[in-house]
Amino acid sequence: MSDTKKPEASLRPATKMVHGGTMRSQWGETSEAMFMTQGYVYDSAESQEARFNGEEPGYIYSRYANPTISMFEERMALLEGAEAARGTASGMAAVSSAMLACVKAGDHVVAASALFGSCLFIVSELLPRFGVECTLVDGTDLSAWKAAMRPNTTACFLESPTNPVLSVIDIAGVAEIAHEAGAKLVVDNVFATALWQSPLALGADVVVYSATKHIDGQGRCLGGVVLSSEEFLEADFKDVHRHTGPSLSPFNAWVMLKSLETFPLRVKAQTENARILADRLAEHKAIERVFYPGRADHPQADVVARQMTGGSTMVALNVAGGKAKAFALENALKVVKISNNLGDTKSLITHPATTTHQRLDDDQLAAAGIGQGTLRLSLGLEDIEDLWEDFEQALSSL
Ligand SMILES: Cc1ncc(COP(=O)(O)O)c(C=O)c1O
Repeated sequence: MSDTKKPEASLRPATKMVHGGTMRSQWGETSEAMFMTQGYVYDSAESQEARFNGEEPGYIYSRYANPTISMFEERMALLEGAEAARGTASGMAAVSSAMLACVKAGDHVVAASALFGSCLFIVSELLPRFGVECTLVDGTDLSAWKAAMRPNTTACFLESPTNPVLSVIDIAGVAEIAHEAGAKLVVDNVFATALWQSPLALGADVVVYSATKHIDGQGRCLGGVVLSSEEFLEADFKDVHRHTGPSLSPFNAWVMLKSLETFPLRVKAQTENARILADRLAEHKAIERVFYPGRADHPQADVVARQMTGGSTMVALNVAGGKAKAFALENALKVVKISNNLGDTKSLITHPATTTHQRLDDDQLAAAGIGQGTLRLSLGLEDIEDLWEDFEQALSSL
């Protein structure tokens, strides 16, 4: 296996997404190869021992590392501007293993209360079972983060923009508060994507993605990725990852590696669809409220302007008439499909209170800004006029 020349640091992101991380075998294949192997063979017992000792470079077992996964990780690190990356089996594997790498019994975690249901479970239910206390705060209120910090706080966790109503949290502000207290900041960047927000550059220590979303981008494979410094990934994350087994499948890594080649094109086009649809929906009388980063009426428009270079492929809306009207709108749509997934080339809509955020009680739903009339829309790559006509016909039937 020969390493091709690494792309120059000065190359632009689109070029890096096509060439970055490629390793070619002795056959010189153009397209990256898929290494569907669990293990590796050695020339001798001495070589095997040296590999285990770390004295000889090379792969040992695909739960630890695999050439196709390495290519995906390298390309992801280039996209994010991170020192290094580790692939995981799903976004939740990325979140849970990153958080486990930051804590031990007796530690304390502070997290924004507006979280995707499974992320909320990790920080507020799972970690406390192992002696890690958690305080939830209004993520948009920096004074609440500051007040929640304790001498034993080792990690802060947030999503921005939040799932589903796209509240935007001041990442640089939270990073400063976390670092003053000696804690690490872990950011779930799924709703912004690496194209529109760079948490590491804003001061975060760890970025996590559900690669299931825009990174695959075509609704096929589950995957996740953790991006950080080499130091964090080697000293804190490596053993958690190796020995608990949230490893990415080489097949899924290959799909995602190839998907990264079109990532900037797809995300730009989907974001443009979202921006146009958000503006048109905001003018419609059946819609009470539209949430979209980049619109002047976004509740944290100033933070959006400071920390994001683009909007999102996601739009949230409040439909007048609560759950009944929200369901009626979903059911009347023809091009847009009802699905709780996001980041696909197909436009998808869901009712968070009864799906992705079903675990939340009424107070938690209110804290997350989710009403019974709230719908979350993930924009795909369809023609914007077909999407708009679909909404017009569905809204007129309400
Ligand atoms: C913000 C956010 N984080 C994490 C996840 C979990 O990702 P996965 O489904 O790949 O485990 C999701 C979606 O499922 C999500 O929307």
